[in-house]
Amino acid sequence: MLNESAFVRACRGQEVPHTPVWFMRQAGRSLPEYRKIREGIGMLDSCRRPDLVTEITLQPVRRHDVDAAVLFSDIVVPIAAAGVDLDIVAGTGPVVAEPIRSAGDLDRLRPITAGDVDFVAESVRLLVGELGDTPLIGFAGAPFTLASYLIEGGPSRTYLKTKAMMYGEPQLWHTLLARLAEITQTFLRTQIDAGVSAIQLFDSWAGALSEADYREFVMPHSAEVLGGLADAGVPRIHFGVGTAVLLRAMGEAGADVVGVDWRTPLDRATEIVGPERALQGNLDPAVLFAPWEVVEREARRVLAEGRAAPGHVFNLGHGVLPQTDPEMLTRLVELVHLVSAR
Ligand code: CP3
Repeated sequence: MLNESAFVRACRGQEVPHTPVWFMRQAGRSLPEYRKIREGIGMLDSCRRPDLVTEITLQPVRRHDVDAAVLFSDIVVPIAAAGVDLDIVAGTGPVVAEPIRSAGDLDRLRPITAGDVDFVAESVRLLVGELGDTPLIGFAGAPFTLASYLIEGGPSRTYLKTKAMMYGEPQLWHTLLARLAEITQTFLRTQIDAGVSAIQLFDSWAGALSEADYREFVMPHSAEVLGGLADAGVPRIHFGVGTAVLLRAMGEAGADVVGVDWRTPLDRATEIVGPERALQGNLDPAVLFAPWEVVEREARRVLAEGRAAPGHVFNLGHGVLPQTDPEMLTRLVELVHLVSAR
């Protein structure tokens, strides 16, 4: 049934009745019902409660009629399960109490088993029961993006400490990324075994790297994650921000679908990525703050450029911004369905 959904079919480059659409960060602060249910409950605590995860994941599906749900969780959930002391601070993001900067620090990052993230499997099972014919997307952070938080200790603009380790201590770097790849693969496998219809690997900050450095220091580890899941048969989406020069390599890492931010038009992206892979994207999330006429014009342009790709999943070029008017998202879903109806 889910294999016949417009979302999964588009990921596989098969014909679809309409272009499927979902939004990164569709569950979250743009929704008043989310802000209400989260009152007084920490972000990580809410990720560990299957009842809350289920409700928050379903909220945008009910409201917007999107073609897929995305599991409510965070990329740092598996590294917290691996023993790293961290918190998600509102308005800042993940903050790591003791950053990982030396070989000795690696002891604080042990492998995980499915049992360490049983709350995620339970959430997925509950959601699959509730969602019926709407597919559920599972996700994880890619080794580079996770490493950047672990090494910097929090968000960064320059990735200075991350790159210092990458260039200065390549052996330590590769050991750390290999360990993160293993954790990430277990985390994704747990979600697949519990029933998600697709997975997305978020390498949000990989755009900080040149193509050569990406291929040498990062791609082998992301390829380990994606390649290790090839047998599962669910579409694998690979996404990052500012990745215009990396799109080809990110596809080659083992993706079925390459996520594209708003900087690269999708027809150009398909030339770079090649004809074997579908694309996801790529309306600028800031466009949703413009008058509706502009949103409509831009969405029509994205749909037209997306026709060059073998399959197109409509999305924003990055996550929904917290200040977004949810009504704009609902109208956008309606428009995408209407304009793309075959
Ligand atoms: O709807 C969805 O997309 C599912 C939920 C989701 C969250 N985080 C929930 C969340 C997903 C897919 C993520 C992934 C994630 N987390 C990424 C990759 C996606 C991207 O945006 O590039 C990254 C880099 C993180 C790390 C992280 N966690 C950041 C940068 C932040 C934002 C900090 C802030 O407050 O502005 C978080 C916190 C976070 N993750 C929130 C949500 C809903 C906000 C915290 C809250 O609601 O209290």
